[in-house]
Amino acid sequence: MYAAFRSIGAYVPEKILTNADLTKMVDTTDEWITKRTGIKERRIAAKNETTSDMAVKAAEKAIARSGLKKSDIDMIIVATISPDYFNMPSTATVVAHKMGLDQVSAFDISAACTGFIYVLSIAKAFIESGMKKNVLIIGAEKMSAITDYTDRGTCILFGDGAGAAVISATENKDEAILDLHTAADGSLGDFLMTPDGGTGNPHKNELKSEASFIQMKGNETFKIAVRTLTKDVVKILADNNLVPSDIAHFVPHQANYRIIKAVGDALKMKDEQIVLTVHKYGNTSGASIPMAINDLYEEGGLKAGEMMLLDAFGGGLTWGSALIPFSPLTK
Ligand code: ACO
Repeated sequence: MYAAFRSIGAYVPEKILTNADLTKMVDTTDEWITKRTGIKERRIAAKNETTSDMAVKAAEKAIARSGLKKSDIDMIIVATISPDYFNMPSTATVVAHKMGLDQVSAFDISAACTGFIYVLSIAKAFIESGMKKNVLIIGAEKMSAITDYTDRGTCILFGDGAGAAVISATENKDEAILDLHTAADGSLGDFLMTPDGGTGNPHKNELKSEASFIQMKGNETFKIAVRTLTKDVVKILADNNLVPSDIAHFVPHQANYRIIKAVGDALKMKDEQIVLTVHKYGNTSGASIPMAINDLYEEGGLKAGEMMLLDAFGGGLTWGSALIPFSPLTK
């Protein structure tokens, strides 16, 4: 049995936070943000809008486009670092309940910006082992809830949103996810962290301190992201006897235009192969790759059988890449 990427869906909140808005909140400029990151604006969820609310909207679109019924889904996995509840219940179980799927297996994984590639790898393994048939995978983030809007080094980067995909069993090898790498290096965990609140550093009665929000060694993370991702995508292509021109769509995690450009240049990717949404959504962590695939799909740019190369790098530190043909049931 193989695992096929059947469909995509996404949701973006209505509210737009522009670079001009941020200049009123911290000491920054539109020019600095644009030049250093490529970001012009990002979406911000409503105050009462949760990560699971956004996840459900993305998931319903993905299922509607999959050619399957909701009741065909037998597992839900959510990649998030901004869950509805920090300990329990998991966001996946909240999503399952809101979708009327209370009997399916449901759990979250935490791999920051690499989350979507991690959930893809888990869905693939469950399907190839024969344990599950139709896995709903979701990347959903309310990054605004864990961002410090007094820290100009991070608040200019992040946005909210969700993306979802249906991964299904197939006997047709041509439809199968071709390859996936996931990796991590915990020795660099302090490059990107929310230090407060877990058992490693419990809350000391006060509600939220700045240590509850994201802290990042931005420049160090930038350099290691470019180095690691370049090596990782070169390897996954070589391992599968592919060259960059075999890739229809390079869909990188949307953290920073300069990281995307550096990896794209190293692969000699043409501009038209690279999917870019960072300018309009900022960095939506685990949601960024499925949101980008969804935009490509909705703009009519993603055709059955086309090969996508995904890559991502984020907190953990974690990273990964994947080679995935788009294999809709309804062609
Ligand atoms: N506006 C104006 N100036 C700023 C801002 C800002 N918003 N932020 C920082 N600066 C200043 C700094 O203080 C510094 O000033 P100094 O030279 O006087 O000390 C200067 O700009 C340069 O700062 P750097 O941090 O070296 O800038 P850099 O070019 O590295 O850009 C950025 C910063 C955009 C954060 C970049 O490092 C980056 O994108 N890093 C990688 C992020 C990433 O990929 N993270 C992983 C995924 S996220 C996740 O997993 C949740």
